[in-house]
Amino acid sequence: MKNLHQSMIVAVDDMKINLELIKDVLGEEYEVLTTDNGQDALILIENKRPDLILLDIKMSDMDGYEVCRRLKNNPYTCNIPIIFLSGMSQLDDKEQGFELGAVDYLTKPFEIAELRARVKIHLNLKIYQERLENQNVVLEEQVQIRTKELEKAIQDLRDSSFEMIWRLTRIAEFRDDDTGSHILRMSYYSAIIARSLGLDQNKIEYLMNAAPLHDIGKIAIPDKILLKPGRLTAEECEVMKTHTTIGAKILENLRSKMIDMGREIALTHHEKWDGSGYPQGLKGEQIPLYGRIVAVADVFDALMSKRPYKEAYSLEESLQIIREDSGKHFDPEVVKAFFSSLDEIRAMETGSLFSDLNCQKILNLSVLQGRLFDQSHQHLSNP
Ligand SMILES: [Fe+2]
Repeated sequence: MKNLHQSMIVAVDDMKINLELIKDVLGEEYEVLTTDNGQDALILIENKRPDLILLDIKMSDMDGYEVCRRLKNNPYTCNIPIIFLSGMSQLDDKEQGFELGAVDYLTKPFEIAELRARVKIHLNLKIYQERLENQNVVLEEQVQIRTKELEKAIQDLRDSSFEMIWRLTRIAEFRDDDTGSHILRMSYYSAIIARSLGLDQNKIEYLMNAAPLHDIGKIAIPDKILLKPGRLTAEECEVMKTHTTIGAKILENLRSKMIDMGREIALTHHEKWDGSGYPQGLKGEQIPLYGRIVAVADVFDALMSKRPYKEAYSLEESLQIIREDSGKHFDPEVVKAFFSSLDEIRAMETGSLFSDLNCQKILNLSVLQGRLFDQSHQHLSNP
């Protein structure tokens, strides 16, 4: 950063004696360049970019006002402070000088001490102004760097939360669906239905990330029940049903909003609109909306999939079951939203809509694992 005594001054006066006087007075403290005409002054000043200009007004080739005007119109020189030094002492002369952008006006013959003092003041002002501008630039750069770092940290946190949830659900799903494709599809279906219901993007994203947790409680279901190749007995069915409460237990008391949504979904995705579901027998809107959405998405995918105890239903059969269960198993509004976005849900099977709804993360994870949309899953489970 420049200091006062590294400042450069250009003095312009057609009287050589004045230039010599200025050099004598200021030359010891500053670098002083001189010229005796306006044309040369313009070239010198643009080339050297001094910190201050001392400018005579009455000159033969071009008067000081014109020099000032041109300097102020030149983007390279417009910010250099100009002090007029002139024998013209009328108020009008001074006014014109200030109007043209001069920072000061000294009348000749000037007091040496006054010249020194004014020059020092204006050089200091310029230095402070430059420091302030530099500081602002530095601060702005720092703010931009910090903002980018913060944005990246937030994104990393979201990505790692999502990845943790995904991996957590894989632990539970792995035993009966080693492709993970069921949770992938049902999460996406849930997001599509949520969007069709008019939920905002934030909620849709939360739902899509939380829906995979719906069956996390299956981690505690014994293999002989979870993987049983055939229908469950009533007793086994009761054990299987506990995956809802166990899932909620696993996810309770965590401060993540997304995981809390997962807890709610785990607990309520087998509740039915008519109150005949489990574990609490909730009815209608007593069932949280996210649970109602996931119920449709989960059942639709289960119907379309081959299970150890059943073949896959056709699309028509699956849709018919969803339609018939509207108002019984499912919230009619959610079913309506499901049907109104059926094209999108069907397109999901080709993977063509993944650019939307922030599904890219799911896609990436799945592709990384090399198991995207493995339609040959043989081990889809009971409830
Ligand atoms: Fe379930």
